[in-house]
Amino acid sequence: MASSVHHLLFLIINLLIIPTTLLSQSIIQMPPKRHRITDDNLYCDSWRFSIETNDAGTWTSIPSRCVAFVQDYMTGDRYLSDSAAVSNYSLSFARGVQIGGDGKDAWVFDIDETLLSNLPYYEAHGFGSETFDEASFDEWVDLAKAPALPASLKLYKELQQLGFKIFLLTGRSEHQRNATAKNLLYARYNNWERLLLRGPSDQGTTATVYKSEKRSDLINEGYRIHGSSGDQWSDLLGFAVAQRSFKLPNPMYYIA
Ligand SMILES: *[C@@H]1O[C@H](CO)[C@@H](O)[C@H](O)[C@H]1NC(C)=O
Ligand SMILES: *[C@@H]1O[C@H](CO)[C@@H](O)[C@H](O)[C@H]1NC(C)=O
Ligand SMILES: [Mg+2]
Repeated sequence: MASSVHHLLFLIINLLIIPTTLLSQSIIQMPPKRHRITDDNLYCDSWRFSIETNDAGTWTSIPSRCVAFVQDYMTGDRYLSDSAAVSNYSLSFARGVQIGGDGKDAWVFDIDETLLSNLPYYEAHGFGSETFDEASFDEWVDLAKAPALPASLKLYKELQQLGFKIFLLTGRSEHQRNATAKNLLYARYNNWERLLLRGPSDQGTTATVYKSEKRSDLINEGYRIHGSSGDQWSDLLGFAVAQRSFKLPNPMYYIA
C-alpha cells in the first residue's frame, strides 16, 4: 500500500517536473540574443582599459568597431566624469604635500587633452580614427579656441592656491608659443611659471625623452616635482619622473 502511494507520488512529481525541465532546457539552449552592438561595447571597454593602463603599449588607431564607442565616450558623461576622478585624486594627493615656502614645489601639466580639450577638432576628424593631419591641426591650434577641460581647470586653480608652481610642458613646438599662450588665457588658465615647448634642439626625440629632459632640467634648478598630469604615458614616464603621476583619459590617439 505504502509503495503504491510512493509510485503515485513519483509519477505526479515527474509529470510536474519533466515538462518544466524540458521547457527551461529549451530556453537555456536558445541561441543568445546578443546584439552586435553589445559585443562591441564589451570588446571596446576592454580595449579602452588596455590602452589607458598602457598594457597595450604602442597603438596606432582606434579599432574600427570601436569608433562609435569612442565617440560615445568622448561626447557623453564618461569622459568628463573620468577626468573629474583623476582631478579629485590629484588634489587629494596635492593637499598632503608639505609646501616648502621656497617657491620650489612644482606641478607639471601637459597641455593637449590635459589642460585644453581639442574635442571640437577631433569631432570633425573622426575622433582620432582618421590619419593625423598636421596641417589642419596646426590651423586649429592657431585659432586658439580650444576649451578648458573643466576638471583640469579646477585642479590648476586649486594647486595654485596651495602654493605649487605650475610648469606647462607640451609637445607643441616653439613657433606655436603665442597661439598656445593665447589659448590658455582664453580658457582661463593664467600665472603659470613657465611654458616649455619643443625648440629646434628638441626635434627628433620621442615625447618621453623630450619631457624627461625638461623635467630633469627643472630638478637641476632645484624644483621638487611632486605631481605630473598628462593624457599620454609619454607625459609621465621616462626619467626625472614626478613623485606622483596622474594619467588622464584619452582613447583617441597615442603618442610614444
Ligand atoms: C570629484 O569631486 C567633486 C567635489 O568634491 C565631487 O562632487 C565629484 O562627485 C567627484 N567626482 C568624481 C568622479 O569622483
Ligand atoms: C609672439 O608675440 C610677441 C609679442 O607678444 C611678438 O613679438 C612675436 O613676434 C610673436 N611671435 C610669433 C612667432 O608670432
Ligand atoms: Mg596631451
